[in-house]
Amino acid sequence: MPLDPTPVPNELRGLRIALLVSGGIAAYKVVDLASALTQAGCEVRVAMTPSATRFVGPPTFQGVTGNPALAGLFDAGGSPEPHVALGDWAQVILVAPATANVIGRIASGRSDDVVTATLLAARCPVVVAPAMNDAMWSKPAVQENLATLRRRGVTVVEPESGHLASGHTGTGRLAGAQAIFGVMVHAVRARYDFAGRRVVVTAGGTREPIDPVRFISNYSSGKMGFALAAAAADRGARVTLVSAASHPAHHGVDVQRVDTAEEMLAELRSQLGGADLLLMAAAVGDFRPTRAARHKIRREETPSLSLQLEPIPDIVASLAGDESLAGVFRVGFAAEDSDLDTKGVEKLNRKGLHAIVANDISRRDIGFGSDYNAGVLLFSDGSRHELEKATKREMADRILDLVLPKLKR
Ligand code: C5P
Repeated sequence: MPLDPTPVPNELRGLRIALLVSGGIAAYKVVDLASALTQAGCEVRVAMTPSATRFVGPPTFQGVTGNPALAGLFDAGGSPEPHVALGDWAQVILVAPATANVIGRIASGRSDDVVTATLLAARCPVVVAPAMNDAMWSKPAVQENLATLRRRGVTVVEPESGHLASGHTGTGRLAGAQAIFGVMVHAVRARYDFAGRRVVVTAGGTREPIDPVRFISNYSSGKMGFALAAAAADRGARVTLVSAASHPAHHGVDVQRVDTAEEMLAELRSQLGGADLLLMAAAVGDFRPTRAARHKIRREETPSLSLQLEPIPDIVASLAGDESLAGVFRVGFAAEDSDLDTKGVEKLNRKGLHAIVANDISRRDIGFGSDYNAGVLLFSDGSRHELEKATKREMADRILDLVLPKLKR
């Protein structure tokens, strides 16, 4: 491996990379990989098996990455679950060198050290770069374990042939940095097709106050908006979720909590500059009390109560008129109980949207509050895509698949 760092492809720059090191002699080469990735602007965090520490010490990795290297499950000074934190944090995982032992343990689902436990806790793409003696490499047990990993979506970087530390010549040498980076790019590109995109999502039913303790709202759970935000974040977008609903935030999603339609509009105006995509899944109220009482309205003192309501201006329609936001692709959502296509197209035009998802609320098995949804996605160019019944997360990914080609580069 050259002393000058191997050029790191642009697609990897800036990514959060967990580098999991197992106990092979090639661990010393992985110090150079960690250094090259760090110098290229990646944030690299290292976790090691106990035997890896016999080849390279954690301080070496800390020195080149600037982050402490974990060498055990109880090593993270305070965090009871360092493997979950690392697995959640990582956008891509590289296991290098991957010994026959760690490959077998990953394949059998073990989690008895920080490396295997992190892999079980992770959701991101995983790249495994094996390195071992040629006889070990050729054993059916090793090859079958690798086949299991591949079947489960792990990408394996083929080892090289040549001189091995054992003195033999054969296949089993850790692949070069360029090959490893190339495979990582491939794994990352497939997953992070929204990398470099800025996406703003709205969720939930807005709340319009009657007095300090009461409000008018609707049955929207916010689940569709949260699913869209999670899907976009998992695909590499920078995501802000402007939400009138409270659910646990997905890792990597910046949540801005709002109540009223007016707050939502103000938050959107401050968030949308430079955004590529607005997914307007919130159920914004249509009417609000003309004025909210300053103090709690008391039943004892109020024999009857009439509320005067005024219409709420349309948020997306007013954003459509904003010149400075002309570059934002705007997708609306419409809950309809009949004529999805006709009503969808009418709203698309009236609200100046680029696309609209019309979903069917006449069905009891989908929509409001449910984990499922179905409908149709209509684009302003006239194209139409049926969205079959699916979980809201699956539907979110399908919507992103269809919208991505329409976004400006
Ligand atoms: O007209 P309707 O409420 O069905 O339209 C739904 C779409 O319009 C949603 O995307 C919703 O977020 C948006 N909307 C809005 N401002 C309103 C009402 C709805 O932006 N006041």
